Amino acid sequence: MTTTHPSQAIPATLVPGDGIGPEITDAVVEILEVAGAPFAWDVQHGGMAAIAAGGDPLPPALLDSIRRTRLALKGPLTTPVGGGFRSVNVRLREEFKLYANVRPARTLIPGGRYEDIDIVLVRENLEGLYVGFEHYIPIDGDPQAAAISSGVNTRAGSRRIAEFAFDYAVRNGRKKVTIVHKANVLKALTGIFLEAAKDVARRYEGRVAVDDRIVDACAMQLVLDPWRFDVIVTTNLFGDILSDEIAGLVGGLGMAPGANIGEDAAIFEAVHGSAPDIAGRGVANPLALLLAAAMMLDHVGHGTTARRVRDAIDGVLREDGVRTGDLHGRASTRDITAALVRRLR
Ligand code: NAI
Ligand code: MG
Repeated sequence: MTTTHPSQAIPATLVPGDGIGPEITDAVVEILEVAGAPFAWDVQHGGMAAIAAGGDPLPPALLDSIRRTRLALKGPLTTPVGGGFRSVNVRLREEFKLYANVRPARTLIPGGRYEDIDIVLVRENLEGLYVGFEHYIPIDGDPQAAAISSGVNTRAGSRRIAEFAFDYAVRNGRKKVTIVHKANVLKALTGIFLEAAKDVARRYEGRVAVDDRIVDACAMQLVLDPWRFDVIVTTNLFGDILSDEIAGLVGGLGMAPGANIGEDAAIFEAVHGSAPDIAGRGVANPLALLLAAAMMLDHVGHGTTARRVRDAIDGVLREDGVRTGDLHGRASTRDITAALVRRLR
């Protein structure tokens, strides 16, 4: 199904997904419409819905759609247990060379452990220790006496993610990029990353400040003094760990958006899953997916609309006090959608 907008429409793939996915995508589409977002949605099925239809959680029609639009908003997909399905997220990452994982964390509800957190983590998404070069070595009849894993960081891949992070900083009015590494010990694997990133940083001198930090010290500083961080760029494994730590600073994954950006496409989603325990009850919080949609608006150059959406979220949470159950409120998905629509109209 394709819905079209008048002028300047930007075709985009919409995957409602499983569990609470359809409820929160409905809410987000309605809110975006009122906000004047330019997307012309091509709705495609993935996950369990797609398995029911054709046996594949990532059907060719969905891949074709993203190949065409190069832009997608994705609801959570239930990963079927057993049956030998490869993770849909990993397949998408490979298919569209989604090399940058962007996870912003911003304090949305005052009164938590930390106030006024505003950090964006940019994680390299294709290289490092996640390339899957792993094997065992048999010794003395023990077939798995030793385990070996190799990481691969390329100069090109390191430059590419650093350029992404610095460009992101410039485009989003950010002041500083912190390069996070472990080049004191993993001298080759993360040394190449540090050197490439510093090289890139030189081209942004005077526009974006740069510093670098060893990952363990960074993990501690994030807890002691998170306000010193602005944009962080790091390798795959460190990014995986630090992005969850940073989400913890603002109250967990519940309202965390994420973007996977690559050469061939950009896919935006909530970090949370399909929440089968509350699916169909109309109580799901649509804000993580809405924040992902705001990132998508930034990505296509509609930053003003993105800002209006974020301001509306701030207003609804802080001033109107409309919050869903996961935020210890009593509002339904409909209530919070209506509150956002009122502010955006
Ligand atoms: P989950 O994130 O779906 O749920 C964890 C807890 O958070 C549940 O109690 C749920 O009710 C609550 N929750 C999550 N999102 C919420 C929202 N928007 N509003 C209110 N409460 C919310 O994680 P879980 O249960 O481990 O995974 C469920 C399914 O989702 C699995 O099949 C998993 O593979 C899949 N999943 C998919 C992801 C994706 O497509 N990106 C990411 C994470 C999990
Ligand atoms: Mg992770």
